[in-house]
Amino acid sequence: MNGLPPLFFEIHQDLPREGPGRDVYTRKAYEMLPRLHKPKILDVGCGPGKQTLELARLSGGEVVGLDNHQPYLDALAEKSVEADLNDRVKTVNGSMLDLNFPEEDFDIIWAEGSIYIMGFEQGLKDWQRLLKPQGFLGVTEAVWLEENPPPEIQDFWEEGYPAMTTTAGNLDTIRECGYCPIGHFVLPEDAWWEEYYLPLEKRILKLLEKYHDDELARAYLKEEMREIDLYRRYSSWYGYVFFLMQKK
Ligand SMILES: C[S@@+](CC[C@H](N)C(=O)[O-])C[C@H]1O[C@@H](n2cnc3c(N)ncnc32)[C@H](O)[C@@H]1O
Repeated sequence: MNGLPPLFFEIHQDLPREGPGRDVYTRKAYEMLPRLHKPKILDVGCGPGKQTLELARLSGGEVVGLDNHQPYLDALAEKSVEADLNDRVKTVNGSMLDLNFPEEDFDIIWAEGSIYIMGFEQGLKDWQRLLKPQGFLGVTEAVWLEENPPPEIQDFWEEGYPAMTTTAGNLDTIRECGYCPIGHFVLPEDAWWEEYYLPLEKRILKLLEKYHDDELARAYLKEEMREIDLYRRYSSWYGYVFFLMQKK
């Protein structure tokens, strides 16, 4: 995260989440997996860790939250103490591009809103070796929900994430990468708004006031706001899908 400007962190610090999602959808996805006894879980790109804590509550097992931004990990460690989950929630500062865990160490790998950083296919391939035989992977990924989107939104995603495809395209990738798909669902719009875009929008409006005479800062803030505005206008065309799969 070192390449990001300081204003990025001023916008994002202490927000409840760093991507679309809610505990209720973490739970829905987790419950699509067969029941496991105290599984060992790796949560990749855990951010402030809402889903990490929920996974600890749901599983009764140990959850390792991995991220490369220490303030998120500090926030997660603090919240895990408050929730009395600190004996089962660990934090690791590391890169998802170079995961230093023993082979076949985890029953489940989880990644909400983070696999895009290395790409869906690459993440599926790279993380497989860390899963026990028949282990599970749960990830959310941005997808096109409708064909032929309007040019404005198509251009936005083409620039930000050109590899974005459809649910069917991702299901093909899952099979090609040596997993069996075991369930998927589209995250409803409240998963984007309640704990992600609405708090983010509030923060940006506050910072636009703070930086009212700083043109550069305001341009950066408006660009962040644009993403929210685009979702407000074009949410029927794209979304996040939760994919659950099992290593073959
Ligand atoms: C979109 S956020 C999602 C965070 C969290 N899962 C959530 O849903 O709130 C992506 C996260 O990936 C982390 N990240 C970015 N690059 C990374 C890398 N190379 N290795 C590990 N984490 C990374 C960021 O710090 C951020 O917390």
